[in-house]
Amino acid sequence: MKLLIIGAGGFIGSNLIEHLIERGDHEIVGVDITKDKLFGIEGPNFTYVNADITEAHDLAEKLVSESDIVVDLIAYANPSIYVETPLEVVKLNFFENIKIAEMCMLHGKRLFQYSTSEVYGKSGHAGAYNEDTSDLIMGPTGKQRWIYASGKQYLERIIHAHGMRGDIEYTIVRPFNFVGPRFDYLVEAKTLGGPRVFAHFMSALITGGPMYLVDGGNQRRSFTHIDDASDAFTTLLDNPASINQIYNIGNPATDTSIRELAHYMMELYEELTGKRPENELIDISGEEFYGVGYEDMDRVPPDISKLKALGWSPTRGMRQTFADAIEYNLDERIHASIL
Ligand code: UGA
Repeated sequence: MKLLIIGAGGFIGSNLIEHLIERGDHEIVGVDITKDKLFGIEGPNFTYVNADITEAHDLAEKLVSESDIVVDLIAYANPSIYVETPLEVVKLNFFENIKIAEMCMLHGKRLFQYSTSEVYGKSGHAGAYNEDTSDLIMGPTGKQRWIYASGKQYLERIIHAHGMRGDIEYTIVRPFNFVGPRFDYLVEAKTLGGPRVFAHFMSALITGGPMYLVDGGNQRRSFTHIDDASDAFTTLLDNPASINQIYNIGNPATDTSIRELAHYMMELYEELTGKRPENELIDISGEEFYGVGYEDMDRVPPDISKLKALGWSPTRGMRQTFADAIEYNLDERIHASIL
């Protein structure tokens, strides 16, 4: 089978391609505007196509028509971008993704659509978030942070409606804070906004700068090792039961507050490097850190029973997840630019 991975050069795409090359079962075509994160990732069953599919629609359609399965990963995924340039987010994350879904329908291709755990929004109930029963609750329109999750939610709903009508075979996945090698990008000390939390805390450990705790740091996330996430993808790929279904990919065992994460990463960094971090932890408001229009989820706990029923379970806990991601960034070639 031939898999077309759109957005191959990002964090999730590059790790997925590495995993699929190793597995060796499929021919893989990866398309992206950049291949930086694909550096050194090569195999006889992998072809990289350098293209901006938001411009090269004919090429995108040709690649879709020549594939069996399309994996759509293109998206902005950093909250700072949702606050700063909300319309760019909708353009890429909604309108461009809809075009890909339409190409899949036109050519009868199965679609794996990456969505987000953020679609649950401020889901009010106490338990873990379930794909088929939890409500999806967005904040006010004036808080433009929610434009991202609203766009993803609408994308999901449209794909689902087409699935109901028999227009497409799809699988939607909702990632819960994947972490690992090649995650986001590092930043200089005292940078506000920018990448996601692991990259900020990692940068602080390297530069000795402060770690910012947005709005108190009591909000919670659970983090998923990127290799568990890649295993989850192949479980879905191999299992016809995943057709026209939505799946959370997460690891409930790693549930932690952001404040606890800052301390955890400092301890782990010391254990891995022998250097004692002395970062200052600074409380900062969401508005100051990201800009006006930021709001947040207090908690994002995944219910993974649906994917477990297909035989997948996360096997990497907090330690391996963060040790692998930290160790990748200890390489001087990775972190030299921010010192
Ligand atoms: C982001 C995306 O918006 C989601 O779509 C995506 O599913 C998710 O990442 C993911 O990685 O899977 P979020 O979890 O809010 O959502 O991303 P982060 O930027 O990593 O923020 C996590 C928490 O840390 C937030 O509460 C944020 O305010 C806080 N934070 C971030 C800090 O306290 N300090 C920082 O330096 C950075």
